[in-house]
Amino acid sequence: MADFQTDLNAMHEPSDVGSGIRVFIETYGCQMNAYDSQAIGGLLEKDGFESASDIYDADVVLLNTCSVRELAEHKITSRVGEIRRQRRNADLPPVTVGICGCMAERLGNELHKGVNRVDLVVGVDNYDKLPGMLGELIRSSETKHRKRTATGHRNDAHYVAPPSLYPVNNSHLVTIHKGCDYKCTYCIVPYTRGPQAEKSPEAIESEIKALVDSGAQEVTLLGQNVTAYNWEKDLDFAALLERVSAIDGLQRIRFLTGHPKDMHPHTMEAIGSLKKVCPWLHLPIQSGSNAILKRMKRLYKQEEYLEMVDYARSVIPDVTFSTDIIVGFPGETEEDFQATLEVLRLVKYDQIFSFKYSERPGVPAARLADDISIDEKKRRLAEVLALQEEIWNVEATKQVGKTWTGIIETAARKQGFWRVRTANNRKFLVADDRQKIGDEASAIITGYSNTTFLTVE
Ligand code: 5AD
Ligand code: SF4
Repeated sequence: MADFQTDLNAMHEPSDVGSGIRVFIETYGCQMNAYDSQAIGGLLEKDGFESASDIYDADVVLLNTCSVRELAEHKITSRVGEIRRQRRNADLPPVTVGICGCMAERLGNELHKGVNRVDLVVGVDNYDKLPGMLGELIRSSETKHRKRTATGHRNDAHYVAPPSLYPVNNSHLVTIHKGCDYKCTYCIVPYTRGPQAEKSPEAIESEIKALVDSGAQEVTLLGQNVTAYNWEKDLDFAALLERVSAIDGLQRIRFLTGHPKDMHPHTMEAIGSLKKVCPWLHLPIQSGSNAILKRMKRLYKQEEYLEMVDYARSVIPDVTFSTDIIVGFPGETEEDFQATLEVLRLVKYDQIFSFKYSERPGVPAARLADDISIDEKKRRLAEVLALQEEIWNVEATKQVGKTWTGIIETAARKQGFWRVRTANNRKFLVADDRQKIGDEASAIITGYSNTTFLTVE
């Protein structure tokens, strides 16, 4: 396991293979991809590539893609066609297009076929090969060579995204492990991202220290199942939180995403007692029906999930929750669906991310008939969203008159306002031109618009 400590960025000497080549990266999907895109940027920069500001300014466009639902993949395929069209319409020469991320891993050489074929396909564990492949591809004049693929899993190394490439903000993503060992029957991730492999605590610590040295106040620890983190069966997620909390200068720690099964009492106790760890749990329930949870292989029952939520509320002051929900899983009856709505009423989430079930090729659930009609999935989705809005309106109204404190995160879309985030992941707006990103701000809540609260000072 010692070689897990290798970092991919350190594995090759800088070169000038990319000198004069401008690359634009477009990122889709989850935060893991956002982090990976920064890591790709770092690897390319080391080899002399420059970053382009848009597709018109680029010699190469890389799409860092998601496979989690069919629609996400369709969007990428049409985006490839759109990029080529937009370049043609602007009288620009053809651009080299590469696919990175989960679609690259899932479809490999398939992406070199068809009308929207691409020049380069690089999966999630092969970005260290990208600079060399790209340099060769751009410089080779023979079109028959315009087909390169690097896919396949390796658990020998992890990416480290350089702080210098982050968008200016006080909060930073830090991937703590990759892959997933669960086998939720609907999910493509174990296939696209491979088995779970941990970054060492030392590597995580040194990455965060470097971020803090370059001005970071806050980190979000990232992984498919951060709560399952376990370094050499010796240091679990709670212990990692403790280690990271001890880093001088770091002020806040968030994490995404947890699996309810690994949210142990001692993990919640650690979250509640460590001052720097933010009281916000994103814990996907997926369904409230035990029959569906069983068929999804989620490894918990509705009652256990609700007990966990109650315990979290008892040991983590001001904790808030968010979740993911899938509607229309094969065989989901009206009664199953009502059980999901019941969980929403009981937990009162701050935010939910809900999706229509999408059959993914090769996953275990693909063997079950996708028997809920698209119209019924749409109805269920609309009902979930309407109920969530109703619940949220009651919860949000209760906040009026309270004084909140948070950290200024970014300029709000509303002119002249800052967007502030509380430790428990709620957003509010303040107007104050003396302040800047990273400053603490307090205000009295006067109302809200969707999930953003409004204030007076
Ligand atoms: N269909 C619909 N939604 C899915 N998700 C994962 N796989 C699928 C699928 N096949 C959702 C889950 C997960 C989120 C990232 O995407 O809710 O938590
Ligand atoms: Fe999408 Fe999952 Fe891949 Fe993230 S890990 S990009 S959510 S398929």
